[in-house]
Amino acid sequence: MNQIDLNEKVAVITGGAQGIGLAIAERMLDSGASVSLWDRDQKLVEETARSLESRGKAEAVVVDVTDLDSVKSATEKTKTSMGSIDILVCNAGIAGPTVKVWEYPPEEWQQVIDIDLTGVFHCLHTVSPVMIEQNYGRDRQCRLGCRKRWESQCCTL
Ligand SMILES: NC(=O)c1ccc[n+]([C@@H]2O[C@H](COP(=O)([O-])OP(=O)(O)OC[C@H]3O[C@@H](n4cnc5c(N)ncnc54)[C@H](O)[C@@H]3O)[C@@H](O)[C@H]2O)c1
Repeated sequence: MNQIDLNEKVAVITGGAQGIGLAIAERMLDSGASVSLWDRDQKLVEETARSLESRGKAEAVVVDVTDLDSVKSATEKTKTSMGSIDILVCNAGIAGPTVKVWEYPPEEWQQVIDIDLTGVFHCLHTVSPVMIEQNYGRDRQCRLGCRKRWESQCCTL
């Protein structure tokens, strides 16, 4: 495995309670980072944070990335408990139904936009000033699957 030195770095991973976000959290912990798992599923994110404790410092923060106030409050919680936010992984997302565009329920489309697009904006908008103040920060977005899905749906119309 590639060795990346993330000692003393704090990583926020949205949607970190399971799936790809959890795998990212494990990799970050194994590289020396502390992780703050931001997820809307309270029970799951708390269980996941507990299950990671043997690998390093992990905390659970309940947040809904579609709600700017919720993201602001999560940012303050992580800053207070961890001391900084050095890495932001915007991973929380939903794929939405796999149906033709004319069959796609508009309210479900809106949910995809709210979580996968506006949610990323809320996190970048709120966490970037923390990184600027520290003069250090890295961010990543996990959006490829969604884009690919839409490209393939458009191609099959
Ligand atoms: N699974 C794939 O094949 C795949 C491929 C490419 C990209 N992606 C993208 O990667 C990301 C993670 O995928 P996954 O398969 O691990 O998903 P998952 O459903 O296993 O996990 C997503 C997590 O995001 C959380 N979440 C959803 N909405 C939220 C919100 N509003 N606020 C806070 N947390 C929220 C969920 O509670 C869940 O724990 C998604 O953005 C997905 O679109 C997935």
